[in-house]
Amino acid sequence: MFELNVVSKKRHQLFGRRKGRNLSASMKLLIEQELPCRLVPVFESSVAIVEPSEWFPNKPSAVWLEIGFGGGEHLAWQAMKNPTVALVGCEPFLNGIASLLRHLSKIEGDRVRIYPDDARDMLDLLPDQCLERIFILHSDPWPKRRHHYRRIIQHKTIDQLYNLLKPGGVLRMSTDQPDYVIWILARITAHADFRWTGRSIDDFTQSRKDWPETRYEAKGRKEKRIPTYIEFCKPVEAN
Ligand SMILES: C[S@@+](CC[C@H](N)C(=O)[O-])C[C@H]1O[C@@H](n2cnc3c(N)ncnc32)[C@H](O)[C@@H]1O
Repeated sequence: MFELNVVSKKRHQLFGRRKGRNLSASMKLLIEQELPCRLVPVFESSVAIVEPSEWFPNKPSAVWLEIGFGGGEHLAWQAMKNPTVALVGCEPFLNGIASLLRHLSKIEGDRVRIYPDDARDMLDLLPDQCLERIFILHSDPWPKRRHHYRRIIQHKTIDQLYNLLKPGGVLRMSTDQPDYVIWILARITAHADFRWTGRSIDDFTQSRKDWPETRYEAKGRKEKRIPTYIEFCKPVEAN
């Protein structure tokens, strides 16, 4: 069985889970046969910076990143709707990775790479200005105050994501936890240069045509939790 720890030297402590219920035989096969060809190239400590557009056989028009893709429905939808774009997905949960691989079997072109581990380990190794879009949808809210340090959205992450975006690049986030909305907004508005793309409060409450509902969001909606959509961009004139 594929071992997840072959990918990188660990730099951060992962707080979420790596495994859920046992994988079905077909999911195991996907992990064994498909994941190795989809992996982000192995990062050795001697290889510091890797340009993600070079991970694909055909040069993509843009590279987008999704952190914590869950079952991969959103990532697969974006890959399907944007045939010239390449996507990199980070997700340590094996069952979610198997689910994404299943979705990818319906998508044309070799345009998706997977980092099956803590996204923060990969972010540390990417060069500045290599991404056009970053999605962090319904990241774990860690509701207990003593666990807030586990939230992926921190001042440091926001600074790092800003640097990774190209000028004009977009960071999309969502959550259905009101206190996490405040947390995220406090951190992104503290950044001197990130700009809100919205014009009215509707932009926080209404989804966009190119922003499909995720699995977690759909579950939350059934349980009467209301999502908030947060989109900020790096100004085109930024350097
Ligand atoms: C609440 S789920 C949301 C999944 C999906 N985005 C959705 O909306 O359906 C959060 C996901 O983030 C993943 N995750 C947590 N910490 C992560 C990290 N440091 N790097 C990458 N993924 C992470 C978890 O494994 C989980 O699948």
